[in-house]
This record gives sequence, C-alpha cells and structure tokens, in this order.
Amino acid sequence: MKRVVAPSILSADFGNLERDTLMLNRSAAEWVHVDVMDGVFVPNISFGFPVLKAVTKASTKIIDTHLMICDPIRYVEKFAKAGSHYVTFHYEAAEDIDACIDAIHNAGAKAGISIKPATEPEVLEQWLHKTDMVLVMSVEPGFGGQSFMPYSLDKVRRLKAMIERINPHCIIEIDGGISADNAAEVFGAGVDVVVAGSAVFCAENPEAEIVKILEA
Ligand code: DX5
Ligand code: ZN
Repeated sequence: MKRVVAPSILSADFGNLERDTLMLNRSAAEWVHVDVMDGVFVPNISFGFPVLKAVTKASTKIIDTHLMICDPIRYVEKFAKAGSHYVTFHYEAAEDIDACIDAIHNAGAKAGISIKPATEPEVLEQWLHKTDMVLVMSVEPGFGGQSFMPYSLDKVRRLKAMIERINPHCIIEIDGGISADNAAEVFGAGVDVVVAGSAVFCAENPEAEIVKILEA
C-alpha cells in the first residue's frame, strides 16, 4: 500500500470545522482521523456523533474513527453506520474482541484494533486473520501534541512480520507524535498510515505539511 496521511480532527479548529474539513478535501491526505474519547478509558473527553456527522457530511476522504472508549461493543455499530469507513477500538478496552470485529464488519465498515504503548503486538495474533488494520499508539492515548515514543518502531517491525505471515491485507497505522521529522523512519518500519494532529493543524500551511510528511 502507498503511504497515507490521516490528519487528526482533534487538532482542528472546532469553531471552523467545516473550513478545516474542506481544506483536507483539497489536500493530499487520503484519510481523516476522528478521535473519540469518553473520559474513562482515557483522561480526556473529545466529542461524539454530532461532530463525526459534521465531518462525514463535509468530507470526501476515508473516515478513520479511533474509539478511545470503554466497552466499545456498545457503540461500534453506531460509529460504523454514522459514516466511518474504518472503526478502530482498543484491545485493552474490549471484553470480546471477536464480537467487536464482527459487529463492525456487519455494519459495513473495516475493523481496526489499537494497542496502547504498554501492550505488545503479539497479543493480537489470534485476530489478525480477520482484522483490517492495527493501530499502534506511539503516545499514551488521550491528548494531541505529545512526543513520539521510539519503542513503537520495534513493535511495528514485529507486527509487520506477523502480518506478513498471517494476513498481508491487514494494514498498520501509527498515532501520536508524528511529523515530517520522523515520518520517514516510521514508514520505513512498515507503517502504511500515519496519523498527524498537531503537526498538520499547527503548521502555517497544513496542506504543504501533509505533502512534507508524505514525502519525508
Ligand atoms: C491521541 C490521539 C491522536 C492525536 C494525535 O490520543 O489518538 O490521534 O490526535 O495528535 P498528535 O499528532 O498531535 O500527536
Ligand atoms: Zn487517534
């Protein structure tokens, strides 16, 4: 798969959400990353369905919803039906991983599983055959603007080897602290999709920054 950048709406200007979404439509970013936080699984609350719907309505891109919520089975179907092309839930938050994946697939979306920095990728082995994407968190989930944790690259390399053996269609996404400064290394380790929040939205020229990350 060719390189993809998924700008995170969490760092957009919520007072100008449509403007920022239209800017992404014009940009080289093929995906838009939507971070949903419940204030329990992570120590922050972001937004829910009304904001997701506003983004999907204005966006022409692939909508990549990252659920940082407890008991994701309660909501995965609803997020899929609200216009997410990918719905990703956390391994650490789900009691029944198979049920979450099946519910997302039955609702017509692709299923992703995310792991926090302290979770090793080997725990996902038994589900990789039916998983469309693994999201490796390279910061503690909860906030944008944190520093990239270098150990994540080691996890990506191990995950890549497992995926090549079990299900080469499964893609790898990384999230947290990504910028044009580390994107080359991250793509080189086997990542397909990089999430970038502050690097894109705090840049003077977000569209140019997206190209810089893609071409890093
Ligand atoms: C953090 C979120 C990220 C966040 C990334 O919990 O999952 O998607 O928006 O922001 P940056 O790119 O600023 O680290
Ligand atoms: Zn995210």
